[in-house]
Amino acid sequence: MSKLRKGDNVELEIESLAFGGQGVAKFNDQVIFVRGGIPGQIVNSVITRKKKSYLEGLALEVLTESPNYIKPPCNHFKYCGGCVHQNLEYAEQLNQKQIQIENIFSRMGGYKDVKINQIIGCENIWNYRNKMEFTFSSTIWYENSTSPNLPLALGLHIPKRFDKILDISECHIQDHECNVILNEAKSLAIELGMTTWDVRKHVGFLRNFVIRKGYITNEIMVNIVTSSFDEDKLIPIVQVLAGRFPNIKSIINNVTSRHAGTTQGQSEHILYGESVIHEKLGDFTFEISANSFFQTNTIQAEKLYELIKQECNLTGNEIVYDLFCGTGSISIFISENAKHVYGFELVPSAIKDAEQNARINNIKNCSFFGGDLMDVFKTNDELAKLPKPEVMVIDPPRSGMHPKTVQQVLEQSPNRIVYVSCNPSTQVRDIKFFTEDSYEIKSVKPVDMFPHTPHVENIVTLEKIN
Ligand SMILES: C[S@@+](CC[C@H](N)C(=O)[O-])C[C@H]1O[C@@H](n2cnc3c(N)ncnc32)[C@H](O)[C@@H]1O
Repeated sequence: MSKLRKGDNVELEIESLAFGGQGVAKFNDQVIFVRGGIPGQIVNSVITRKKKSYLEGLALEVLTESPNYIKPPCNHFKYCGGCVHQNLEYAEQLNQKQIQIENIFSRMGGYKDVKINQIIGCENIWNYRNKMEFTFSSTIWYENSTSPNLPLALGLHIPKRFDKILDISECHIQDHECNVILNEAKSLAIELGMTTWDVRKHVGFLRNFVIRKGYITNEIMVNIVTSSFDEDKLIPIVQVLAGRFPNIKSIINNVTSRHAGTTQGQSEHILYGESVIHEKLGDFTFEISANSFFQTNTIQAEKLYELIKQECNLTGNEIVYDLFCGTGSISIFISENAKHVYGFELVPSAIKDAEQNARINNIKNCSFFGGDLMDVFKTNDELAKLPKPEVMVIDPPRSGMHPKTVQQVLEQSPNRIVYVSCNPSTQVRDIKFFTEDSYEIKSVKPVDMFPHTPHVENIVTLEKIN
């Protein structure tokens, strides 16, 4: 066999992990991205797809185990799309993420001489997430179900299937108490004979179950996402959860009949307690509402924010713009070193949270503005009157920055840009525009926020060329 084709079975040695988490192997000149393979393994695999410049494959059987293999603690590991690298030693996970960033910068970005700092790993590599989103479904992935014959599942999607849910009884990256709540909610839904949302027929009631727990504060928010508002149906669940778990401070019902899978409701109702819970980062307390973004790994977020603060290199006299500011957590964290921080964000509830967060922390030098960063500087006249920024922190979603946003940053012309991203490939794509002729890269500092998953956070600092 000189060239591989779709359907071929082939023995492959996995050399590394690609960005996105697949194993990378070579066969003659062909590159194969192998799902389920970790570096050091020799696997029997099947080729599942042929693309112009590479192939995709699936590891069927491990013939020789990796020296960095460890037994995954999770029962759901084989099928769950969550922590795909639980079977790889954490030190090697970090090593692979480091290599990925180096490759993205040198190959995709063409930045051959840029030094990538050593990735900062997590001390707590289990039970670190302060938020998990689970899905209700009656189309259950049974192959590995620990509890077959359930009328409904509450769990996570298996990879590449929007319609099949793997029932989860214990998720090792969320808090222990959240696992107990998850199982209780599932039992109650079954006991009460509730229906689940059918993603094909668009009927049924229960859609998602989102649990947030402040890592520092222990306050819990449960957000039950349903397709219509029917408080009477949810009251029995609310009563049991609120009665049994005193840490639950808030039970919210987001309602959406949209066909797309989203936990963001068209309307939101408070079923129990407060509309927000609190979490702490450093000395600061943050209020978080159901639909606002908040960093999911509290302990590592603190390290990330300390680094962002260092990279901003503030003296107390600077105007800082915090683009994609969410609930204002970065703005507030760096505010003591700035003259004034202006935060900009799309989601109105996040802006409300940001303003409230500044108030409860007694921060006077932060202001927040709502709007789409694609055009907010052009459409909101108020913003034209703001003082120009010396420093900009930019922390966009995975998709990165819209070209129009890049253009507006270039027009604002800050001396320093601290670009934080959970997707280094869109980050490099955007940075190329900045380094074309106006900025140069001062530092690249990866931070691992999500052990056992393919995700990696990266901070790039750019300085204006005079
Ligand atoms: C990765 S989060 C960063 C949040 C914040 N910096 C933090 O550390 O908590 C990205 C944020 O960008 C916001 N966002 C997404 N698209 C946007 C847009 N077009 N304009 C403004 N904000 C947007 C999201 O709502 C989200 O809060």
